[in-house]
Amino acid sequence: MSKRIAVLVSGGGTNLQALIDAQGRNELGGGEIVAVIASKPGAYALERAARAGIPGYVVARKDYPSSQAMTVALVDKLRELDIDLVVLAGFMVILTQEMVQAFPNAILNVHPALIPSFCGEGCYGLHVHEKALAYGVKVTGATVHFVSEECDGGPIVLQKAVYIQDGDTPEVLQRRVMEQAEWVILPQAVSLFCQGRLRVEGRTVRILPQ
Ligand code: GAR
Repeated sequence: MSKRIAVLVSGGGTNLQALIDAQGRNELGGGEIVAVIASKPGAYALERAARAGIPGYVVARKDYPSSQAMTVALVDKLRELDIDLVVLAGFMVILTQEMVQAFPNAILNVHPALIPSFCGEGCYGLHVHEKALAYGVKVTGATVHFVSEECDGGPIVLQKAVYIQDGDTPEVLQRRVMEQAEWVILPQAVSLFCQGRLRVEGRTVRILPQ
C-alpha cells in the first residue's frame, strides 16, 4: 500500500517543491504527499501545496502555550491524517519527544550541512552557511537523517558533498547546496523509505537492494 506522507514546512518550501516535482515524475517510490503542515500562516510553501492540489494546514507555535503543547497538537493532526512518513523540509520549530515517540524511524529531516558539522540547536537556514564560510571549510553539503530525540543527531540516511567556491556568500552557498544536494537527496531518501528499503541498525542506516 502506498505510504501517506506529510511534509512540515516553515518558509519558502523549495524542498517541498522538489518532493512535489519528484512525485509528478513518479519518483517517490509510490509514496503520496497527502498533507503540507506549516508552522506559520503566511508560509509560501502553502501556496506551492495549493498549486499542486495538496491540502495545507497550519499548526503555529504562537497558538500554543509551549513547544510540548504544539507538538502534541501536531501529532494529533498527523494521526488523524493517517500519516506513515513525516518529512521536515525547512521546518524551523524544534519538536519535543512526543513527536519521535509517535513516529519512531518515520520522520526524515533535511539539514544543509554534512552532519556532524554545523548542526544542532541554533544552526539552521542561512546560519549554517555563515558558519561553514566563517570556519573556512572547502567542502560542505547536505544530510537527510531520521529524527531522534537529539537535535540533528539521528541516523544518517543520505549525504551529498558540495564544494565551496571563491567569493561565496552565505546566500550563494545556500542556493548551491540546495540545487546540488538537498533537492536531490531529499526525494531520494523519501523514495527509499516508501519502498521499504531503509533499515536502521543502531546509528547506521542500511539501504536494502531493490
Ligand atoms: C533548507 O536549506 C533546509 O535544509 C534548511 O532550511 C532551508 C529551507 O528551505 N533547514 C534547516 O536548516 C533545518 N535545520 P526551503 O523552505 O526552501 O525548503
